[in-house]
Amino acid sequence: MQCATCTGPVNIAVIKYWGKRNEKLILPLNSSVSVTLHQNELRTKTTIAACPNFTNDQIWLNGVEEDINNSRLQAVISAVKRRARKRKSDGETNPRLNWKLHIVSENNFPTAAGLASSAAGYGCLVYTLAKFTHFKGELSDIARQGSGSACRSIYGGFVTWDKGTNEDGSDSKARQIAPHTHWPELSVLILVVSDQTKHTSSTAGMQTTVETSELLKQRLSGLQTKEDQMTDAIMNKDFKTFAEITMKESNQLHAVCLDTYPPISYMTDTSHQIIRLVHQYNNINEDVKVSYTFDAGPNACLFMLDSEIPRFFSLVKHFFLPENGHSTVQGLPITEQTL
Ligand code: DP6
Repeated sequence: MQCATCTGPVNIAVIKYWGKRNEKLILPLNSSVSVTLHQNELRTKTTIAACPNFTNDQIWLNGVEEDINNSRLQAVISAVKRRARKRKSDGETNPRLNWKLHIVSENNFPTAAGLASSAAGYGCLVYTLAKFTHFKGELSDIARQGSGSACRSIYGGFVTWDKGTNEDGSDSKARQIAPHTHWPELSVLILVVSDQTKHTSSTAGMQTTVETSELLKQRLSGLQTKEDQMTDAIMNKDFKTFAEITMKESNQLHAVCLDTYPPISYMTDTSHQIIRLVHQYNNINEDVKVSYTFDAGPNACLFMLDSEIPRFFSLVKHFFLPENGHSTVQGLPITEQTL
């Protein structure tokens, strides 16, 4: 039996992807920008095992067998195999490409709770498939066909997913704009408000938004400028601009979700309390020291410089943790993340 195991990181969007121009190929209406988190903390681990005796492809996610015929899974498995076959154009055959695969994937964080699990999951799956088939080459456009945001998890550090304009999606891929070593002081604190599976998946939510939201059109018209400002802020390590755009982006994403008909609401009272705490903290400090962002769920990702963590975290403990000192917000662990 032959095996390959890889781990894949979560990425957090600071310019959000919300809305597709092509559902099947997963082509976005706008470009997005993200920060990839350190893999020791939140990660997916995927193992692929195969041998000539296996009769079926099979996949298990967090110990539960999933449907291998899922169209997105099939799209990425066949795309990696196709590319690996092309590379062997010299006639040399790679027997692994014909073997049935057993794929085992596990997340060390809540799945489908708005913590970018599909990004880490598909990013890792594509990477592991490439390792298993000995394919070396572009992977982000394949990961994109599993889940849009997954294309950004192929790279570490600071990443842009260019929306592209080609009909076939060939120019819709991710690229690193700066490695994680570029801004080592930038840290992220994740507050897990709930580990429940979200009521509306990102895929379904963004589709209804595209169909019904007027506000989305307005959002899209201003996004290129925002993306350019965000890239400059990252390149110049300008925390204030980075933080302000990140918060406004998150707010706009959730405003667009509320403008969707019927409305989609991902945040809870606790999420709103966290937002208030961040703004009060910044007001007291007369500067922008902390920023928040929320994806399709109630959990908060808070960016700050590492020097700020002890002071801000003590406030979080004071306001959100029970007296007995368990590090929980509504019963779940708070994890401290460093890029
Ligand atoms: C709010 O990548 O999960 O996290 O492409 O349909 O699989 P699909 O959607 P997905 O959407 C992520 C949306 C987001 C914003 C972001 O990560 O950019």
